[in-house]
Amino acid sequence: MCGIIGYVGKENAVPIIIEGLKKLEYRGYDSAGLAVYTGGNFNVVKRKGRLSVLESEIGLRPTSGHIGIGHTRWATHGEPSNENSHPHLGRRGLIAIVHNGIIENYRQLRDELAGKGIEFTSQTDSEVIAQLAEYYYKGDIVDTTIKVVSRLEGSYALGIMCIDEPDTLIAIKKDSPLIVGVSGHGHFIASDVPAILKHTNRVYYMNDKELAILREGSVRFCNIDREPFRKPLETITWSLDSAEKGGYPHFMLKEIMEQPAVLRSTIMSATGAGANRPVIDSLDITGFNKIVITACGSAYNAGMVARNVFERLCKVPVEVELASEFRYKDAILDARSLVILVSQSGETADTIAALREARAKGATTLSIVNVVGSTIAKEADLCIYTAAGPEIAVATTKAFSTQLILLYVLAIEFASRLGRLPPGVAQVLIDEIKGLPDKVAHILEQVDSIQRYASKSVGYKSIFFIGRNIDYAIALEGSLKLKEISYIHSEAYAGGELKHGTISLIEEDTLVVAISNCARLYDKIMSNVEQVISRGAKVLLIGDCHSGAPGVGQDGEHDSEHGGGHGSGHGADLSTDLSAELDAEPDSRLSHIALPQTDELFSPSLTVVALQLFAYFVAANKGLDIDKPRNLAKSVTVE
Ligand code: AGP
Repeated sequence: MCGIIGYVGKENAVPIIIEGLKKLEYRGYDSAGLAVYTGGNFNVVKRKGRLSVLESEIGLRPTSGHIGIGHTRWATHGEPSNENSHPHLGRRGLIAIVHNGIIENYRQLRDELAGKGIEFTSQTDSEVIAQLAEYYYKGDIVDTTIKVVSRLEGSYALGIMCIDEPDTLIAIKKDSPLIVGVSGHGHFIASDVPAILKHTNRVYYMNDKELAILREGSVRFCNIDREPFRKPLETITWSLDSAEKGGYPHFMLKEIMEQPAVLRSTIMSATGAGANRPVIDSLDITGFNKIVITACGSAYNAGMVARNVFERLCKVPVEVELASEFRYKDAILDARSLVILVSQSGETADTIAALREARAKGATTLSIVNVVGSTIAKEADLCIYTAAGPEIAVATTKAFSTQLILLYVLAIEFASRLGRLPPGVAQVLIDEIKGLPDKVAHILEQVDSIQRYASKSVGYKSIFFIGRNIDYAIALEGSLKLKEISYIHSEAYAGGELKHGTISLIEEDTLVVAISNCARLYDKIMSNVEQVISRGAKVLLIGDCHSGAPGVGQDGEHDSEHGGGHGSGHGADLSTDLSAELDAEPDSRLSHIALPQTDELFSPSLTVVALQLFAYFVAANKGLDIDKPRNLAKSVTVE
């Protein structure tokens, strides 16, 4: 996710762009840049690092102009560097662009242009757009833009300037956000409202493949057939602060809501011709006799979920280790060990140390990271990237969910290469994963019922999360989420382990969150539920699957007819009404959230959304600083 802004009008574009980029830094901050038309040419200033680096550069060498575009980057292709920063120009410097999104077919287009002798100056997908534009340019920038976007696959929000039309700013989008703002002193394009709210609250919301043509005194729209049309002018009523959070009260809630979109992007990156495929395809799992997943915090919890998936599909043992422990344990590793390191920030000190320990012992290291160019991304032998975009809230949500996606895909690929899956099952599982974003969206549409239940859960001194098998793994994440933002003590426990001591803590009105997505273990977890209710506990049951066909059976056969733990995800009934479930027994001790159905192995991707929302609304009802919880940092770069 990046931030783009553009301006054309009476004022100097440079300070407008700089101020706008400051309001967009939450969308990415690896690098920043701008281009203004001045003296018959484009003056381009772009620097790796935070916006302040760009500001200093411009302070040293001031520039100005009445039309310009700016960009703040979240690296997805090509690590943070001056060359990879936007704006990008074509080889003749005729056309300048800024881009937010991911061009999925950039490699093919890059090869095609290179074959015509066009040399690239960056490793980005975005530069392909600028070079393609100049390749097509025959004197009409609107025609050129239409031709270019007809070749692009993936997502984009584009700001385009052409040296021959220095009074014209072009904008077009597909799947990435873009608005057009109008004011008495000029007009704007931006990724988001905060960038321009200081200048105007009158905006047009762009739809996919609509083309905007901005000049100082006019804003016109046309479709890709150049047919003009009019759009409704909207008025923004948000405050500037809430606008940065997209209208949400906290970044955490915004990031929870972004999960369907970032899951889709991450799935796309790991399947088909996605950016992660070359690394995934290069991994010969048959060369390893040991798999270790090591990480910290939520990333560790993702590893705990993944162990269930790897072992059920690949039939190979997987060890999951806390990086802070792994780094000091003199791990038994050698050249036949594959060590997978999971990290959102790519800068967690314990995980970096674990990486270096694994490499020192000759293991092959694969990292799963959200921040391109981070230490763990660069030092691991191989790296695949989650496409979660910048995650501002300290408590991870969307990054965690995208980590699960990449781990699922790795497990399926490994199982397939090990010959552990019957013909066709790998595709069935991938298709099941592709259905997850819609199911997550379905849960998010019913956030009110979870909010109501959470509001009644604020007073508990301690909340237990229980589950069995993969449900226990995701219970760990539910407990961590609650603890870190609500400051309520919590423990995650394997359901069958409660009776070995901890059940002594269950008393009148203790809250137990029980997770049940494993159909074959439904009766077992429900007996745990009865045990705690009989001792006075209240129970929130999440999943509520009924006994039924197993998912990937104990013999490794995938029950494609029934799919997951409680019926296949294919065309599953998405009409489940969470609110009906949660409110049906207002005075009983058992409330439950029924989730859309999917394969048991992928159910954590749905369960975690309910857990995230539960933790969020408990903390919100306590009025806490959810995005910056006490004692915590987004990236723990110290021991
Ligand atoms: C999760 O909500 C916490 N912020 C924390 O546990 C985090 O997952 C952990 O510090 C690991 O961070 P990383 O993914 O950036 O390595």
